[in-house]
Amino acid sequence: MEEKEKNIPLIGDDFPEMTVNTSHGEIDLPNDFEDKWFILFSHPGDFTPVCTTEFYSFQKKYDQFKELNTELIGLSIDQVHSHLKWTEWIEEELGEKIEFPIIADGTGKVANKLGLIHGANETSTVRAVFIVDPKGTVRAILYYPAELGRNMDEIIRMVKGFQKSQEEGVAIPANWPENELVDDRVILPPAGSEEMIETRKKQEEDGEIECFDWWLCHKES
Ligand code: BEZ
Repeated sequence: MEEKEKNIPLIGDDFPEMTVNTSHGEIDLPNDFEDKWFILFSHPGDFTPVCTTEFYSFQKKYDQFKELNTELIGLSIDQVHSHLKWTEWIEEELGEKIEFPIIADGTGKVANKLGLIHGANETSTVRAVFIVDPKGTVRAILYYPAELGRNMDEIIRMVKGFQKSQEEGVAIPANWPENELVDDRVILPPAGSEEMIETRKKQEEDGEIECFDWWLCHKES
């Protein structure tokens, strides 16, 4: 196994450039996904039950990801032939053809570079999710343990939230678009100056925004 690297990419960092071997051939990350969002997600291993449910669910939601200009790429410390045999099984037995590529990281080199190996088991990655934007910047990282499958709707919500935030210069509340306080409305970023506080108060008076206080304002999206 490769020695663990310390400089793993974090939120706000450029996704490291690398060529990866996948079930669809070689892919250059992040360049082959230029102008697209991509989700890189790792799983502990092929032919395992929770991972199989995850692949089935990711494939079921693949069209929704594509509508968001978002690509998927899986990863585990398995060989390409294992990925191919497993996805063949999923298609034959469960009726879903896995259409996105899966990185075959047999040496663990990519997993170490991205910080996907936690704890003592060096031949298995945790369930990590990297959300990377069209400029190749890491926007979010999620980690789940082996015993807990991921929620694809939350990952889709995050991509939608990032896109909304970017388009409208707003922040996204908890449980958006079904927030318990502001429903599907969006949050104005914290006021950074006295001038901005006055602007917020004026916007509230003019009915452009609503505020619980000047530092907690929301508006229609
Ligand atoms: C699973 O995918 O079912 C699984 C993988 C590794 C450890 C435990 C469960």
